[in-house]
Amino acid sequence: MALKVGIIGNGGIANSHMHGYIELGDRVEVVACCDINFEKAKEFAARYGIKNVYDNCYDMLRENQLDMADVCTWNAAHCECSIAALEAGVNVLCEKPMAMNAEEALQMKAAADKAGKLLMLGFVRRQGDDAAHAIRLIEDGTLGDVYFAKATYLRRCGFPGGWFGDKALSGGGPLIDLGVHVIDLTRYIMGCPKPVSVYGAAFNKIGARENVPRSGWASETVLDKPVFNVEDLAVAMIRFDNGAVLEVECSFNLNLKNEKGDIEFFGSKAGFSLGEFELHTEIGHELADIKLYGDHRFDFQRDMDKEIKNFADAVEGKAPCLAPAEDGVTLMKILDAIYLSAATGKSVDID
Ligand SMILES: NC(=O)c1ccc[n+]([C@@H]2O[C@H](COP(=O)([O-])OP(=O)(O)OC[C@H]3O[C@@H](n4cnc5c(N)ncnc54)[C@H](O)[C@@H]3O)[C@@H](O)[C@H]2O)c1
Repeated sequence: MALKVGIIGNGGIANSHMHGYIELGDRVEVVACCDINFEKAKEFAARYGIKNVYDNCYDMLRENQLDMADVCTWNAAHCECSIAALEAGVNVLCEKPMAMNAEEALQMKAAADKAGKLLMLGFVRRQGDDAAHAIRLIEDGTLGDVYFAKATYLRRCGFPGGWFGDKALSGGGPLIDLGVHVIDLTRYIMGCPKPVSVYGAAFNKIGARENVPRSGWASETVLDKPVFNVEDLAVAMIRFDNGAVLEVECSFNLNLKNEKGDIEFFGSKAGFSLGEFELHTEIGHELADIKLYGDHRFDFQRDMDKEIKNFADAVEGKAPCLAPAEDGVTLMKILDAIYLSAATGKSVDID
């Protein structure tokens, strides 16, 4: 019997998820979809031949015997829709960020635990081949003791528009949207150390930057009253219980020349750039940069397909879920602490 899937929120990312379900063939059937923008839900259903269409998740969950619900809404609805599905006894994949804050994330995890259902997060970067190779380099001792990492996700002109600029719907700017990917990935590759404190700063100096062409992801949502009341740049230092420190920089808009997305790991034996796929070390009396063989770069759609497969595999007990709820909770605690530190100008401890 095919696993029955319902998709909640039918905008941009839902299409990338659909690609993954289609790749799984007759193992899954997307039987229902819903969006509070009913026109959007109807278009989505027509595009993919989905039989049951709704303007809210409650009717969809009541009228369909789903095995899996996929939450692709804007961030402010992640908590409500995920809990609704979990309480209906349905396994959930929820897009990143897990929620608006750690309090919501904890409620979601509690609902999953109570229902005994899976709550997986859309940390798609965990599915990448590059991540698997980086983990192996650390585990086999090639890097030595990794004591510092630098995660950069800097866009020069990359505000996605729509709800992404409205704090009430997004929870924040590039930190919660982009930083969440690279902070999670860095921590994941480093073996999930526990964060103990952060020092952060956030700025809104450029704003939406709508006078020049944008690049990158674009929301399909058009707000009646567009706002940009989130940060356009966030920077932070995160200290972990093993003594390692992560420095993170992320922006929607910034006056820099070249956009940059990379994670660099600095170890006692070698450094490693995930983006360049290159080791920085010494050989004999020489400094050496060693390009690793093969193309292991993150590929958004290929790795999104892997995420959807991992969701189905985990639901059927065939593989462990690579992005469990507890890691989403930890991430939300880190983000809350960075925003608090940015607001107060003081470092913030994390329980
Ligand atoms: N994994 C990634 O790399 C990645 C990339 C882009 C977006 N995302 C995430 O995907 C989510 C959606 O982003 P998007 O770009 O697709 O946005 P979008 O604006 O294109 O679509 C969001 C849709 O959610 C709908 N919606 C809002 N509240 C709802 C509710 N309660 N019930 C049903 N539908 C509801 C909206 O009407 C809208 O159609 C966000 O959380 C975003 O962070 C992840």
